[in-house]
Amino acid sequence: MRFPPTFLDEIRQRVSIVDVVGRKVRLIKKGREHSGLCPFHNEKTPSFTVVEEKGFYHCFGCGAHGDAIRFLTDAEGLPFPEAVERLAGEAGLQMPQMTPEDIKREEKRASLYDVMEAAAVWFEGQLKGMAGEAARDYIKGRALTPETVAKFRLGFAPDQRTALKQALLSRNITEDQMVEAGLLIKPDSGETYDRFRGRIIFPIADRAGRIIAFGGRAMDKEAKAKYLNSPETPLFHKGHNLYNFHLARKAAFDKGQLIVAEGYMDVIALSQAGFEQAVAPLGTALTEDQLRILWKVVPEPFLCFDGDQAGVRAAGRALDRALPMIQPGQSLQFVIMPEGQDPDDLVRQQGAAAFQNLLNSAKPLAQLLWDTLSEGVLVDTPERKAGFEKSVFLKLSDIEDEQVKTFYQQDYRRRLNELLRPQWQKQNGQAGAGPYKGGSTRTGSYGRGGRKSKFGPASRLIPAEGNLSSTRLGQSVSAESVTIRLDELLILTILHHPQLLVTHLDDFQGVKMADSDLDSLRNEIVALAIELDSLDSDTIRQHLLEKGYESLYIRLTQSDSHRPDWFAWPDANLQDAETGWLQVLNRQRRIHQLMRQLKEVELDVSQNLTEEGFERLKALKEELENAAGNESEIDGYGLASGRVMTT
Ligand code: UTP
Ligand code: MN
Repeated sequence: MRFPPTFLDEIRQRVSIVDVVGRKVRLIKKGREHSGLCPFHNEKTPSFTVVEEKGFYHCFGCGAHGDAIRFLTDAEGLPFPEAVERLAGEAGLQMPQMTPEDIKREEKRASLYDVMEAAAVWFEGQLKGMAGEAARDYIKGRALTPETVAKFRLGFAPDQRTALKQALLSRNITEDQMVEAGLLIKPDSGETYDRFRGRIIFPIADRAGRIIAFGGRAMDKEAKAKYLNSPETPLFHKGHNLYNFHLARKAAFDKGQLIVAEGYMDVIALSQAGFEQAVAPLGTALTEDQLRILWKVVPEPFLCFDGDQAGVRAAGRALDRALPMIQPGQSLQFVIMPEGQDPDDLVRQQGAAAFQNLLNSAKPLAQLLWDTLSEGVLVDTPERKAGFEKSVFLKLSDIEDEQVKTFYQQDYRRRLNELLRPQWQKQNGQAGAGPYKGGSTRTGSYGRGGRKSKFGPASRLIPAEGNLSSTRLGQSVSAESVTIRLDELLILTILHHPQLLVTHLDDFQGVKMADSDLDSLRNEIVALAIELDSLDSDTIRQHLLEKGYESLYIRLTQSDSHRPDWFAWPDANLQDAETGWLQVLNRQRRIHQLMRQLKEVELDVSQNLTEEGFERLKALKEELENAAGNESEIDGYGLASGRVMTT
């Protein structure tokens, strides 16, 4: 069976020879090459080399040499057609069913390359000749050097109806061929005529450097279309090719860097400025095929987009297209140009260094995706928070590679925690840059060193010696012992249900604790909550033990005095723990408030004995006694924890 050479080329370009060989030979990467022990002869030290960039293997020991297809026939003994079939399958290509007509068509197609080449030569000649003066001026105006013009084989199509047609006819190229090559337009009725007229010509080559299409730029601003491109032809499929890939590939391999710009002129200007590793899609958004081509050269190509709205939208589309395709180590970096400037403008006006700076500060795909998702979202209510979180994880489900997806989920979980953090934490320098920009860590003013001044005993409003026994409350209950009991309960609940800190961290931080040990234990937990994104009971316990709070921790968690307060214990449901905790908090606050008022009134009464003063004092004492002495059950909740209601 005969295969069309273009089909075989397509296979060679699509499959990775390192993958093919690597299945049989253990390969080690050395610079741009891979080497291993030659499968064609016996050796102890590797002299067998595989060059991905060129698509071949070579053995310096025995001289074995070939491409991916050859490897399968020679090293694995497959018959040629089967080798082709297997690789075609890997490359996602349909096997051609070759009839005699097909073979003829292939030959015709092969000759189309000659047609395109002849046209390219003629366009180049026109640019140099008399007809090309205005075009040469235009090119000069765009600051392209003669070397650049030659390298990119720029040409000119004069503004005449059939100038190219006449020229190629005289070289024995038929009208049909020119129509098929997309050089002539065939109207429904009437004569065929040149597609490109009055335009600067940018030849478009395939990966082997053969001309397969042209782009034509109008010189005057009035023209209907600024750029006109060849139509789809047997040679040209715009979604499978990239402008300048044949020249950029080598530079890209050498530098390990590949830049995708939006336009032909950008690629050319970048190349002239020293960035030869630049390519562009052909007047359309990047396709999956094009992404695959890029990734065969470098793991993280740079995509450049204009800074205007259209450019940002285009970046978003490229991101959406790429997201399912990212792999371990394989992603994209995004360069958003300053508004109103494309890479061509930038290197012309500010030089290569300015562009290099932009590359240096490119956004990884993960960052751009986060920015896109989070831009402008409101997360000020629980519903909006949940909605945002849902949309974030839904988007991540587009990632097909499980390993990469898992890392994205972890990474975005951290970012979500950061974003959904209580507002007061953010205002204190907590909401730093994401992990990609090397920004701040969490050791700012809330680090352990800085914590004391903010939360330490000095800021306590209620003095530790605020003992109210002098107020002769009831015989059995002192208000202070009650508040300590409540403080213990508040801490104990947090020890078992640290998730409460997600919404109640500032409440917990604000609790006034009369006992200095409890106070510093509480401060330790608060500091830990601020430092870590999420807390669990074990982490807290571990931390407190390390910090020397062992005996206090044991006293809290093992004494029986808090047993009846079932919501404080691990088996309570979180919702009940929260309800119980908030009630204790309110009661604790109320007692503190009453104690403060009582002190004021006592002072007042001692200086100014009035009936009215005594009345107030008595009322306050009663109220305080009620609040402090009220140890009754908190009803109305508990069913969620399976608690049996007692009446
Ligand atoms: P731009 O409009 O950004 O042009 O189109 P540019 O590359 O900056 O060109 P100059 O600097 O004005 O000469 C970017 C690319 O979009 C395609 C072309 O591939 C162009 O290079 N395009 C643009 C078209 O196919 N048709 C058009 O009419 C315009
Ligand atoms: Mn431009």
